[in-house]
Amino acid sequence: MRFLITAGPTREPIDPVRYLSNRSSGKMGYALAAAALTKGHEVLLISGPVAIPAPDGATLVRVETAQEMYHAVADAIGNADAAIFCAAVADYRVAEVAEEKIKKTGETLNLTLVKNPDILGSARSVFGFEGLLVGFAAETEKLAEHALDKLRRKDCDLLVANDVSRTDIAFDRDENEVELFYRDGRHETLAQASKAAIAAELVGRVESLREA
Ligand code: CTP
Repeated sequence: MRFLITAGPTREPIDPVRYLSNRSSGKMGYALAAAALTKGHEVLLISGPVAIPAPDGATLVRVETAQEMYHAVADAIGNADAAIFCAAVADYRVAEVAEEKIKKTGETLNLTLVKNPDILGSARSVFGFEGLLVGFAAETEKLAEHALDKLRRKDCDLLVANDVSRTDIAFDRDENEVELFYRDGRHETLAQASKAAIAAELVGRVESLREA
């Protein structure tokens, strides 16, 4: 199969030296890429800025902003059999990026933020993607309710939900524990394990969905 995987954070510039971002390390997305390659699949990895190397054999497309990630996905998703959206995309960007470094002249500084495009939410509705679609959800409360809402709203086959209120897993950690919600209503838990082990399980689930 041909996998498209988004990974890492996005970086939204404020001025030439500053940006808005988040704590995503890219580890989960990169582990998914490695797991898919190990199982003999082709991988296109569309990644925000991270400090880890891409697995050998992946085709890496580096992006910075959500808009760049959106365009990279739009260009490539038509060639994918399965798309896994693991990136922690910044929901908002600064409305007007300052051309020069902002000086600290005032006691307060207001930034106006505007919404970024929802890349996963565009997969079916804008890009016309008909392959297997897997989304992630980072939640701090009402995990099942929010995950099921995302699954339906973004028309996914599988939604992988993380509890990011836990400090021992998920964001910037080597281990994860995830809840899986399927389009057909099935639900399962992948117990706490290394991101590599969780990734291998997830690639296996995608393969099973493809066979079904
Ligand atoms: N995602 C995306 N593009 C965005 C925002 C999110 O592709 N601009 C993808 C993420 O890669 C992940 C899923 O959507 O697969 C997570 O969505 P999330 O941001 O948690 O959900 P929202 O529906 O935006 O809801 P909220 O942020 O309000 O929880």
